[in-house]
Amino acid sequence: MIEPARPEIVVAAALPAVTMAALEDSFTVHRLWQGVAPEVLARVHGLAVSTLAGAVGEPLFAQMPALRVVANFGVGYDNIDVAAAVARGLVVTNTAGVLDEEVADLTLGLLLATLRRIPAAERFLRDGQWLQQNFALSPSLRGRRVGIVGLGGIGKAIARRLSGFAVEIAYHGRTEQAGVAWPWYPSVEALAAACDVLIVIVPGGSATRHLIDARVLTALGSDGVLINVSRGTVVDETALIDALRAGTILAAGLDVFEHEPDVPQALLDCDNAVLLPHIGSASQITRQAMGQLMVDNLVAWFATGRALTPVPETRY
Ligand code: NAP
Ligand code: 8YV
Repeated sequence: MIEPARPEIVVAAALPAVTMAALEDSFTVHRLWQGVAPEVLARVHGLAVSTLAGAVGEPLFAQMPALRVVANFGVGYDNIDVAAAVARGLVVTNTAGVLDEEVADLTLGLLLATLRRIPAAERFLRDGQWLQQNFALSPSLRGRRVGIVGLGGIGKAIARRLSGFAVEIAYHGRTEQAGVAWPWYPSVEALAAACDVLIVIVPGGSATRHLIDARVLTALGSDGVLINVSRGTVVDETALIDALRAGTILAAGLDVFEHEPDVPQALLDCDNAVLLPHIGSASQITRQAMGQLMVDNLVAWFATGRALTPVPETRY
């Protein structure tokens, strides 16, 4: 029996095994990192990408003139040159809606770990130091004012959790949101001045590059804590290291870095920083859900010409 032809896609970098298997169920999969012949690239309509594939844009698009849909494994899509995709009329999809709660959980964990110095306390115990003395008293979340930079899907999930901690909440975005009771600040600097915790969860890319700079850190103040779970590019990492060293701010909790996976030694040397290897969404169940939504987007586009979760710029 001759099998019906299955659509072909290119995958730019390896994805979790369960996601690769789900792709193989519906498509003939070409792995870019194993080499794909130019004539195959030229005829394929679908491309699956992730931040692990590095920046994706015109150099690859130009080799794929039949490309119509680019599906991202992740909600943030600053890894894709969306302007180049729009210029070619491509549909770009992300994994909006399936990771908000997981990333918000991790953010609260990182916030508490940073304030209560949980990693340092555990090192203290493992090093046998508890046998000699008690661990030093830590700062607290009690009574703090928390500013959320980017009250989107994840920002709102973070705010919902924070509501259970009886802290004050405020936010900054480019516009004030209707139906949101928390106070809005028109600039990130004004929000930082009004708060002593700043949680950053905006998209990456040129519009937010170094949104958190030396001025914002100064405004946050010497009792202030910065939590960044967005993209490393959003924070001026050199200014942050200076601020952590000088005591301009109290502490930082970071899940993302400007040049990850490279983390500067100067940051590793800061005792007042808790550093995580970009694990916001990295649970088995959530990564599987992200992969499934990426696959479902491709399947829907090939079946109907419409994707499930296109990014706003490509909702034609
Ligand atoms: P979202 O729902 O699109 O929300 C983004 C929020 O940021 C919106 O409230 C938006 O409000 C605000 N914003 C956008 N551009 C801005 C700007 N230039 N200045 C100030 N505020 C701006 O996105 P999301 O799903 O919450 O995800 C946010 C980001 O988190 C992703 O893009 C990704 O980079 C990052 N992320 C990280 C992890 C991790 O593992 N650490 C996991 C998932 C996502 P306005 O439109 O009103 O400005
Ligand atoms: C993933 C993320 O680490 O969704 C995002 O924007 O940053 C994370 O969920 C990443 O997308 C994996 O490629």
